[in-house]
Amino acid sequence: MERFDDYMERCLYGPEGFYSSGTGIAGRGGDFITSPEVGPLFGVLLGRWLDGVWNEAGRPNPFPVLDVGTGPGTLLRGLKLAEPECSAAWDLIGIDRSVDSVKEDDGIRIQPEMPSSLDNSVVLANELLDNLPFRIVHRSSAGWSESFVSDGQFIEQPIDDPGLSIDPGTSAPLLRNAHDWVASILERKPLRLLSLDYGTATTAELAERGGWLRTYRSHSRGDDPLADPGAWDITTDVATDQLPGSPLVRVQSEFLHDLGIDELVAEGRARWTEKASAPDMDAFRMRSRIGEAEALVDPAGLGSWIVLEWRQMTPTTDPSVA
Ligand SMILES: C[S@@+](CC[C@H](N)C(=O)[O-])C[C@H]1O[C@@H](n2cnc3c(N)ncnc32)[C@H](O)[C@@H]1O
Repeated sequence: MERFDDYMERCLYGPEGFYSSGTGIAGRGGDFITSPEVGPLFGVLLGRWLDGVWNEAGRPNPFPVLDVGTGPGTLLRGLKLAEPECSAAWDLIGIDRSVDSVKEDDGIRIQPEMPSSLDNSVVLANELLDNLPFRIVHRSSAGWSESFVSDGQFIEQPIDDPGLSIDPGTSAPLLRNAHDWVASILERKPLRLLSLDYGTATTAELAERGGWLRTYRSHSRGDDPLADPGAWDITTDVATDQLPGSPLVRVQSEFLHDLGIDELVAEGRARWTEKASAPDMDAFRMRSRIGEAEALVDPAGLGSWIVLEWRQMTPTTDPSVA
């Protein structure tokens, strides 16, 4: 009998796991589409956000930008293409537990481990927290129970109150690994931690709404997390109230509006109109901003993702100026 988080650990990151065996791939040809995979516009906007952090911190050099759970590294490649002002000082580093050695490609390093220091760093986590193994708990009028997996079936075992505020008759994910991961980053005082993920403000909302346990393969959602272990991604909506600290909370559409997505789309439209009779690559890139923006702020999709920004944070060493 395995607790659900141990089962999930094995399904995603064990020897035959969805991620460790290379089955799980973000992107158009893969299993799911994330914001950086929509197109280059997301990188331009995130680059603007990084410029704000960098300038506010006194333009530290070096300025490590760490993308944790980087997958194929699309977010970092999008940033590189966008070339924000802080690119003069940044080190772009992707971290993913599913890679087995350090890879260096076109100025981007991808490695399995976090660096030892997070001084003057920004830590990005796009759709990471939903993938950290979670437990499943249930509340009834008689008390609490937890889901274990045995012979391909769920078995419920009584447990002590796990400290979640949910109504009797509902179930919720218990996000201890996500909590501990965030706490371990905050402890090391980077300039910022930015997490973008599907989720809600409270666990009570998730429990009431249901449908928070998600499985994916080839762009389709499955309905049974116990079917075909290792062949499916297993994830959950993330409940913000289970995470430590006091992040600034926005939905992705607000975050991107604050960074000027409307102005970038208007610029794209104008440049396309100017060159529509003889379009070049730049004109096509500008036109593509219109559709990309629609996807990134879609209230029924990526636009509703929760953006959590933990800002502790002052430069930890005397920064040199780039
Ligand atoms: C859904 S994918 C994220 C895709 C990518 N961030 C994007 O935006 O396209 C989750 C990734 O997180 C990685 N991962 C899970 N736990 C991790 C951890 N503790 N540290 C680093 N990477 C982790 C997995 O191997 C997987 O590649």
